[in-house]
Amino acid sequence: MSAPNKSYDPVEVEAVKPDEVARHRADALAAIASATTLDELHQVKIAVAGDRAPLALANREIGALPPAARAEAGKRIGEARNAVKQALAQRQEQLETERDERVLVEEAVDVTLPWDRAPRGARHPLTTIQERIADIFVAMGYQVVDGPEIEAEWYNFDALNFPPDHPVRDLQDTFFVAGKQEGQSSGLVLRTHTSPVQARTLLAQGAPVYVVSPGRTYRTDELDATHTPVFSQIEGLAVDEGLTMGDLKGTLDHWATAMFGDGVITRLRPHFFPFTEPSAEVDLQCFVCKGASVGDPDNPCRTCGSEGWIEWGGCGMVNPRVLIACGVDPERYSGFAFGMGLERSLMFLNNVKDMRDMIEGDVRFTLPFGMEI
Ligand code: PHE
Repeated sequence: MSAPNKSYDPVEVEAVKPDEVARHRADALAAIASATTLDELHQVKIAVAGDRAPLALANREIGALPPAARAEAGKRIGEARNAVKQALAQRQEQLETERDERVLVEEAVDVTLPWDRAPRGARHPLTTIQERIADIFVAMGYQVVDGPEIEAEWYNFDALNFPPDHPVRDLQDTFFVAGKQEGQSSGLVLRTHTSPVQARTLLAQGAPVYVVSPGRTYRTDELDATHTPVFSQIEGLAVDEGLTMGDLKGTLDHWATAMFGDGVITRLRPHFFPFTEPSAEVDLQCFVCKGASVGDPDNPCRTCGSEGWIEWGGCGMVNPRVLIACGVDPERYSGFAFGMGLERSLMFLNNVKDMRDMIEGDVRFTLPFGMEI
């Protein structure tokens, strides 16, 4: 007598019937075919090939069949699952190809589109000229240093040998910074020149020292074509053993040549500054006519007004009183200093007629000069 087949369960094995398997297979293939995106396909894959998919469940029921039926059912279910797996892989490949093609079209960059519709700005020519000059001096071993624009009167005047209450302070048309109370002085001014950086540098670094210091300066001038209350200077200071006026002249000539062209030289005219002794004004030989226009009415020169020379700035040998005020021994060290107006330099370098153009910040002015790197 044969024993009952305990594992045979006619309800469960319903799932492995040929019709059912064929239906699950057809459903799965239809779902795969109708997936239109990779995300959709991912969901379909879980539904038709995941652990809870009908064909996976059917596969688990094979063991419940009578042994004789297992091989045949296993083969059918295996085939159905393979067909589903293959269809998934094919659809995946198809959808990926479609996506890649779409991305290529959607993300294409039209290199022929204009790129310069938003106008680009440009660096201000005063910035570029400062850097050009600084470069010339850095190449000679100078250091570039900075100083504050709101300056202590002591640095702006006293340390530089301007006597107290002497009218020479007024000569610089100073903006004084008001104190906290009416009529009180704060001891601060808007620096009238870059020379206070001389005192700051000597106090901070001592000697020997070689520095240039470009920056903004202020005087109570009315704004017009040749004056502005805010202007820029570049200061130079060299203090070392044995420096002479010959070194000063050589340095200025080198700068003139580097900036204005071969053979352009400078000339010194006696002058007075409290912080240099002797002092001089520096003229630059006209770099356009090189002096040829002087006395030749047929060939006037616009750059120098047929003078042959252009006023450039002030200079001199550092006054020993300044060295002493800044703790440098004048018996051992000597030095020279110079200060030039940058707006002036730009005016004759680039033939700018009106200083106001330099401070109005109109990009139409900066563009032609500012493209220099
Ligand atoms: N500080 C002077 C001025 O503004 C220029 C100068 C600088 C003169 C250094 C001599 C030495 O006029």
